[in-house]
Amino acid sequence: GLMALNPAWADTFPSRAVTVSVPFSAGGPTDVVARLLAVPMSRELGQTVLVDNAVGAGGTIASAKVARAQPDGYTVLLHHMGMATAPALYRKLSFDPLKDFEYIGQVLDVPMTVLGRKDFGPNTLAELQAHAKAQGKAITLANAGLGAVSHLCGLMFMSALGTELTTVPYKGTGPALNDLLGGQVDLLCDQTTQTVPYIQDKRFKAYGVTTLKRLPAIPSVPTLDEQGMKGFEVKVWHGLYAPKGTPKAVVDRLNQALKVALADPMVQKKLGELNAEIPSPDKVTPEGLRSHLQAEISKWGPIIKKAGIYAD
Ligand code: MLT
Repeated sequence: GLMALNPAWADTFPSRAVTVSVPFSAGGPTDVVARLLAVPMSRELGQTVLVDNAVGAGGTIASAKVARAQPDGYTVLLHHMGMATAPALYRKLSFDPLKDFEYIGQVLDVPMTVLGRKDFGPNTLAELQAHAKAQGKAITLANAGLGAVSHLCGLMFMSALGTELTTVPYKGTGPALNDLLGGQVDLLCDQTTQTVPYIQDKRFKAYGVTTLKRLPAIPSVPTLDEQGMKGFEVKVWHGLYAPKGTPKAVVDRLNQALKVALADPMVQKKLGELNAEIPSPDKVTPEGLRSHLQAEISKWGPIIKKAGIYAD
């Protein structure tokens, strides 16, 4: 894209704290990733990296906020594939994912898990399927709002079940998971970056994972695919964005810090334990993120329009 020429200050970037805007609640999966990367990024940049949770409207509030921020690299956005579904879900979107940002790089790919509260009746996916047929809308399914991946995964899951459930929106899956723990909702589809430790501690019923192979961290949880939901696959990709017009030298500096953070042994160990995948080096680049975003917008647009789901 078109970038401003490098002003003199760009050479000394950053000279103060950098804020990473996160579109969902503190403690949830996106927040976990941001705070994990903030530590080595901060070390590499020589400045504090702060996390700001700008929650609401399925991630579009944080995206709009960063799109309008000063293009100086001090405000960036960590968002997942909700960036690609937003243009179809929100007809009155106040920003354009393909025009209003500079792209720093892809960040990681995260599998999802379908969970039930611990004292929920069904023990297996087959039992859940039968229970859903009988109970339908009496069953509640939590999500983080339209545009959240928990929402998208929930829609795919209901379609695979062949039953509509009652969806309950939150501002992130952090609070949704808390309510699942407390037994206030029945089901949640959520990312392993938050759910793995709870599944290992048997705090929930785990009905399946959204990958085609089982996950090493939770090997006893079957895939949805192997249980008859053929081809059920969701991997949540993430990107790091800066406002349009951020100088190239600054974008490159942030990209360098992202690469260093993803190569950090502590980060790799932690992400490995949560079964998150670090993308290949060609994807952790401005063009790797931009071209993937474009392809994903083209992929999801028709699917969402056909499903007739709109947030506004
Ligand atoms: C979160 O961090 O709360 C999740 O990424 C929300 C979501 O399900 O998209």
